[in-house]
Amino acid sequence: MTNWREQIPTEEVIQWRRHFHQHPELSFEEIETSNYIYDVLSTFPNLELSRPTTNSVIAKLTGSAPGKTIALRADIDALPIEEEADVDFKSKKPGIMHACGHDTHAAMLLGAAKVLSGMKDQLSGVIKFIFQPAEEVPPGGAKAIVDAGVLDDVDYVFGIHIFPKLPAGMIGTNVGAMTAAQDIFELKIQGKGSHGSTPELSIDPITIGAEIVTNLNNIVSRHVSALDNAVLSIGQFTAGEVFNVIPDTATLKGTVRTTNAETRKLMKKRIHEVIDHIVKAYNGTYELHYLDGYSAVVNHEVATDIVRQAADKIVGEQQFTCPKMMGSEDFAAYTDVTKGSFFVLGGGTEEEGCGYMNHHPKFKINEDALAVGMQMHVQIALDVLGKK
Ligand code: NI
Repeated sequence: MTNWREQIPTEEVIQWRRHFHQHPELSFEEIETSNYIYDVLSTFPNLELSRPTTNSVIAKLTGSAPGKTIALRADIDALPIEEEADVDFKSKKPGIMHACGHDTHAAMLLGAAKVLSGMKDQLSGVIKFIFQPAEEVPPGGAKAIVDAGVLDDVDYVFGIHIFPKLPAGMIGTNVGAMTAAQDIFELKIQGKGSHGSTPELSIDPITIGAEIVTNLNNIVSRHVSALDNAVLSIGQFTAGEVFNVIPDTATLKGTVRTTNAETRKLMKKRIHEVIDHIVKAYNGTYELHYLDGYSAVVNHEVATDIVRQAADKIVGEQQFTCPKMMGSEDFAAYTDVTKGSFFVLGGGTEEEGCGYMNHHPKFKINEDALAVGMQMHVQIALDVLGKK
C-alpha cells in the first residue's frame, strides 16, 4: 500500500470536473450528469453499480476480506445561476451553474473510486461511493437514498464540501453540529380591506403582519439561550397594491435555523403561538405552512477522528477547526441515521483568485484542491478498511 499517492489520477479528476462544470444540471434533473458518472464508473474494475433512486449512482466495492462498511458521498447538482466566473470552461447551459462546487465533489469521488477499485485485495470490508442528486432543493436527494436502505449497513459515512476563501487543500473539521437545521414557514394573514380613511372598518393585515415580524424577531432573543444557536429571518412580506387602501391579506415568508433538535422544536412551537395570539388579538384569521427542512449535520467524534487522522497524513498542518455554519446541508439525512463526518476542503483564497463564496455567479475554486479531496477519500477508506 505504499505508492498509491504516486498514482492518483489528478489530471483526469480535473477533466471530469470541467466536464461537469460545462454541463450543469439543476436539482432533480441530473440525468446526463448521473449517466456520465455511471459510464465512468463502469470503466473501473470490481465495482457493483446501482441506481436506487432517480439520478443517483451507487458504486459498491467489496474488499477481499470481511470488515466494516463505509460510505463516501458526493452531491452532483447545480444551481439556477448565470455564470460570471472568469474560467475558460464556463457553463454551456444558460442560467445554470455549478456555483456550489458539487462538480468538484463528484470528480473527486470518481478519482477516489478509480484508485480504490484497483485496491480490492488490500481492503477488508465494503466501500459505497454515493453520487447523490438534489442537495440544493428540499426535500433533497439524501433522504431518498437513506429511505432506499443504502445506509442500513454503513458504519461510517463521510462527505466533503469545498469552500473558497480558504487556502486550497486546507481541511476543516469539527465534532458536533457543523450546519444548521433549516425550516421554512409561509403565513397568509386574512384580514378585511377598507379605504385608508376608514381603518376602523378594516382588519388590517399589514398592522398584524408588522406586529408578527417584531414579535417573531423577539423569540430568539427572549427564548433561546445566548449559548445556543438560532436565527429567524423574514425574507418576504407582501401586501397591498395602492397607498390608500388597506388590503384583505398579507403574506410573510421566513426561515428558521437551529443547531439542536430541542431548540428546533421550541422555535416551531413559539412561532405557532406568537402568530396565533397576535392574529386573534386583531380578529384576523390565518393559514400557516411550516415546512421542516434539512436537520443539522452532526459530526460524530469517532468518524471525525478518522478524518483528522487522514488529514494528518495528507495535509499535515494544513488543518483548522471549522466553526459551525448556519447554512444547511442534506448530508444531515446521513448523520441522522449513522455515524458520520462532514468536512471542509479549502478551495483557494482571494489571492489565489477565489474570492467569491459558494452560490455567487463568480464562484471559482483552485483546482489544486481536487487532488487533496480525492486523497482524503482514499486515505479515510484505507485507514478504516486497509489490511493491517
Ligand atoms: Ni453545496
